Amino acid sequence: MVQFNLPKNSKVVKGNYFKDTTGSKNIKKVNIYRWDPEKNGNPKIDTFEVDLTKCGNKVLDILNKIKNEIDSSLTYRRSCAHGVCGSCAMNVDGINTLSCMKSHKDINGDINIYPLPHLKVIKDLVPDLSTLYRQYESIEPWLKIKEKKSKTKEINQSKESRKKLDGFYECIMCACCSTSCPSYWWNGEKYLGPAVLLQAYRWIIDSRDEERKERLKTVSDKLKLYGCHTIMNCTNSCPKGLNPAKAISALKKMLATN
Ligand code: SF4
Ligand code: SF4
Ligand code: FES
Repeated sequence: MVQFNLPKNSKVVKGNYFKDTTGSKNIKKVNIYRWDPEKNGNPKIDTFEVDLTKCGNKVLDILNKIKNEIDSSLTYRRSCAHGVCGSCAMNVDGINTLSCMKSHKDINGDINIYPLPHLKVIKDLVPDLSTLYRQYESIEPWLKIKEKKSKTKEINQSKESRKKLDGFYECIMCACCSTSCPSYWWNGEKYLGPAVLLQAYRWIIDSRDEERKERLKTVSDKLKLYGCHTIMNCTNSCPKGLNPAKAISALKKMLATN
C-alpha cells in the first residue's frame, strides 16, 4: 500500500471546502493534500469544486485553475506542461504520474491528489528530492572521456550504439518510479532506487564513455544495487513508458559476468 510521509506526530485531517461559485453543472470535486510548514498544524485535505467548462483536459490544468481562481496559496511544481521537465510528478488517484500528462477525463468520481509517496514534504504537493539528486550526482551523469581527445576531435557513435540508449536516455528524472518502489521507501538512504540506477545504466552502455569499469564499480555495492527485489512497481509507474527494472537486471547481469 502507498505510504505518505507525514510530518512528525501528525495525522491527516479534513480541511476547507471550497464550494463552486459559478453555478456550473459541470463540476468535479478535487481533494488535495495541504501542509504548510509555517502553520505548524496537521496536514489536511482541502476539497475544491472545480468548474470544468473552461478547463484544459489535464490534472495540471485543474491545479492551475484552482491556483489562479480559487486559492493562490496552493503550492506545486510545474514548468514545461508537456511531459519534458519532470517537475509536476505527484500521486493522482493512487498512482504516481505527471499531472501535465494525466487526463482528468479518465478519472471517475472525485480526484484525489497527494505529493509523491514516502518523501518528506516541503509544502502541499512539493516533495523534498534532495536525497534523490544527491544520489543522481553520485553516479556522475555525464560523458567521461580523455580530456585531450574530447577537445581535439568529434566523438562519433555508430547508429547501432546510439540505438542501445533508446528506452533509457528519455528518462526525465521525475522520480515517479523511485517513489513507487517499496525497497526505496525503506532503504532510500542507501539503495539508489530505479531512477538513478536507470541513469547509471544509460551511461555505462554509452559506447563513447571510457569509464565503464569504474561506473560499474560505483553501483556494485550490495546496498546500492541489490536493494531491488524485482517487484516491478517502478516500470508500471513510469509515465514515459520506460523500464527501470530491465536496466537494473541488466546491471546485475553485467556485474555477474564481469
Ligand atoms: S523492480 Fe526493483 S526498483 Fe523496481 S520497484 Fe521493484 S524493487 Fe523497486
Ligand atoms: S524512469 Fe520513468 S519514472 Fe523513473 S525517473 Fe525516469 S522518467 Fe521518471
Ligand atoms: S510540467 Fe514538465 S513534466 Fe509536467
